[in-house]
Amino acid sequence: MALATPRVFSGIQPSGELHIGNFLGAVQAWVEIQHRYESYFCVVDYHAITVPYVPPELRSRTHEMAISLLAAGIDPSVATLFVQSAVPEHTELAWIFNTITPLGELERQTQFKDKAQRQESVPAGLLNYPVLQAADILLYRADSVPVGEDQVQHLELTREIARRWNARFTPDTPFFPEPKALLTPARRIMGLDGQAKMSKSLGNTVGLLESPDEVWAKLRPAVTDPKRVRRTDPGTPEVCNIYHLHKAFNPESTVEMVAGQCRTAGWGCLDCKKVLFEGMERSLAPMRARAADIRSRPGHVEAVLGDGAATARRIARDTLRDVKEIMGLAPDAGLRPRAVK
Ligand code: TRP
Repeated sequence: MALATPRVFSGIQPSGELHIGNFLGAVQAWVEIQHRYESYFCVVDYHAITVPYVPPELRSRTHEMAISLLAAGIDPSVATLFVQSAVPEHTELAWIFNTITPLGELERQTQFKDKAQRQESVPAGLLNYPVLQAADILLYRADSVPVGEDQVQHLELTREIARRWNARFTPDTPFFPEPKALLTPARRIMGLDGQAKMSKSLGNTVGLLESPDEVWAKLRPAVTDPKRVRRTDPGTPEVCNIYHLHKAFNPESTVEMVAGQCRTAGWGCLDCKKVLFEGMERSLAPMRARAADIRSRPGHVEAVLGDGAATARRIARDTLRDVKEIMGLAPDAGLRPRAVK
């Protein structure tokens, strides 16, 4: 029997255009993974509505996220890219999982505690967020989930849900796999203020598709080693956020030169930023060109997402048909009964 290609699922919030923090922290890994795994990448709009939002903005943020993902190199001829709410089985399986998920586990999730604290009234959807995430992953019976460190707790809960469901309904031949986190290289990209993680809500990002002028306008005043007050003060590369961006965008030889020039004050910070800018342009210019091409083709994004949703749904329906049959629930009225084996 041939070994099936391992299957990967990951999700991303529809936050609009990607920024370089999202790209380096997650999407760059997806672009590489898509060639080695059967890959499903999902823009998770049902997750996004667990916090207050503006409906027309959600639609445009979802659209922009899809353009960014395609521009960054997600290739719909090898990976399945789709929007979560186009595949209703995600929420159907989430309901089922809600019935076997211990409340205490949900209340213990650090992301829930953080988000709930910032909310005047806490919707149940915020508490149940990780149950929907488990449904996302298990609907495709994915083996591996590329995520950052911050999602490890949610992944543990996903495995717990798979274990509980299997123990209750398929104790002899476990139906769901227990998916592993594929930790994306721990690259926590700091914002240009050098103070906090790069994040849209903090306004300290560089957009993946911004123009060269916009990128430079943000890099030029970006925070560096605070000890380099005068041009002649030597610096410590490791404490400088710009140095860490060099490591993400420039080859090893350039990174070594940058470190040397910083320690000896051979270069000023502005010289160093110019070299970073050139490195970033090598990555970002082709993405900008791809985005422009996509935008020039009316209906292209919708067609890609429509195909993706249709592909995803074929698998989602199969999973749900089996789950409902095993649990004693009614079959989907639109589906013919299963052929007798
Ligand atoms: N919660 C994830 C995040 O905020 C997004 C997400 C939703 C996800 N469903 C997923 C990630 C399934 C991996 C797999 O980043």
